[in-house]
Amino acid sequence: MKRTATILLAAGKGTRMKSKGAKVLHKIAGVPMIDYVVNSSITADFSPIIVVVGYQAEDVQQSLSRYHGLRFALQKEQRGTGHAVISAMHLIPDDAEDVVILCGDVPLLRPETLTRLVEKQCRESQSATILAARVPDPFGYGRLITDNENKVVRIVEETDATFEEKQINLINTGIYCVKTKIIKELLGGLKTDNAQGEFYLTDLVEMAYKIGKPAIMLEAGDTEEILGVNSRVDLAWAESSIRKHITEHWMLEGVTILNPDSVVIDKTVSLGQDTIIYPNNYLLGNTKIGEDCIIEPNCFIADTTISDCVTIRTSSVIEESNIAKKSTIGPFAHLRPGADIAPSAKIGNFVEVKKSFIGEGSKVSHLTYIGDSDIGKRVNIGAGTITCNYDGKNKHKTIIDDGAFIGSNTALVAPVTVGKEALIGAGSTITKDVPDGHLGVSRSRQKNLKKRK
Ligand code: UD1
Ligand code: CA
Repeated sequence: MKRTATILLAAGKGTRMKSKGAKVLHKIAGVPMIDYVVNSSITADFSPIIVVVGYQAEDVQQSLSRYHGLRFALQKEQRGTGHAVISAMHLIPDDAEDVVILCGDVPLLRPETLTRLVEKQCRESQSATILAARVPDPFGYGRLITDNENKVVRIVEETDATFEEKQINLINTGIYCVKTKIIKELLGGLKTDNAQGEFYLTDLVEMAYKIGKPAIMLEAGDTEEILGVNSRVDLAWAESSIRKHITEHWMLEGVTILNPDSVVIDKTVSLGQDTIIYPNNYLLGNTKIGEDCIIEPNCFIADTTISDCVTIRTSSVIEESNIAKKSTIGPFAHLRPGADIAPSAKIGNFVEVKKSFIGEGSKVSHLTYIGDSDIGKRVNIGAGTITCNYDGKNKHKTIIDDGAFIGSNTALVAPVTVGKEALIGAGSTITKDVPDGHLGVSRSRQKNLKKRK
């Protein structure tokens, strides 16, 4: 096959999103919408891949910086899709006979479809092959006007279409493969005499028809795939479709997901075999969950690594934490960034842990705050314990060594160290270090006075 390059249009503001940010950076399943299109383009491998950026160009380019080999063209003013292609032409290599043109707002597009499009173009077309689709609701899309040989005469945009043209349900998906020569020959002739005052790439089709080199169509079999995301309603639609693919993927990999429609799993999450995900869970960002875990209902887990055989009990909130194997967290636990839980530890209900290490086999079972602490092995922290880590200005560290036992309702005023196997009497306020093997207690002695009659 001859060389084919790709131009990916991503310079538009996306007015219909009514957003301060660029449309293509809106996330779907935790990943910017444009990443899906970039991934499909990279897989299809028609290179170079030239991304046209414009509105918030730096943000878009920065967001794509992890992909190697992309080239960027700047469209300074957003004057339409035709103008966007003009901005990229100087990066098309001389030997690229065809160019795939697609938009950054079609996240469901599959790479195989691009391959089919290019194959058809190479086999059958002298000018362009348009990926077309018949859709039940064509609103918002350009409509394809065809002649009786099924060649495309022109494309009319929603805003320019007559009432009759709006009834046509054969639409332009915005994805094409075009001869480089045709683009170079015709693009200069584009005009802005349309409802939006823009240079429409789609006008190229009528120009090609008029010079006797009509564009042909490839009809997309799957109309879901070509959905263009223009509004937040479309965004929600794309999101639900991609999420469905994600849950199905993990179920096929051996994860049990009860009521998958209620579970939100980002594209970036990974799950291990025989893990069970109960309803209403949010597993987000860079979260990795091992094998044989149980995630009970209503948890919010973001950017967290969870090893094998861990149980997260219901309604726990966990962010940027690390949980080693065989631990139990929750119900109603809050692990804030930097919680590092060693194997077989237990964090119980209404416990908050922040930037702390909890050693192997240690238990923090109820109503406790542990912050900026380093807790050894087999430590037992009684209900109502608070590490007082903040003096209003600075954060201080609490160290509790292996085997210590902290009685209920203890305040540990940091910086403070509790030694190995030490014991703290319930209700103490500990302001001084407690040496290994000692009992620390600081509370007034109980008096029992006779009741007055
Ligand atoms: C476009 C097509 C329409 C098609 C639809 C499919 C045109 C004129 N219309 O309409 O026929 O049915 O896609 O989804 O092409 N962009 C730029 N620079 C610009 C303007 C847009 O890079 O100056 C980019 C946008 O970032 C976007 C893409 O081009 O990724 C399409 O622009 P958009 O405004 O969404 O076009 P539609 O109105 O959807
Ligand atoms: Ca669009």
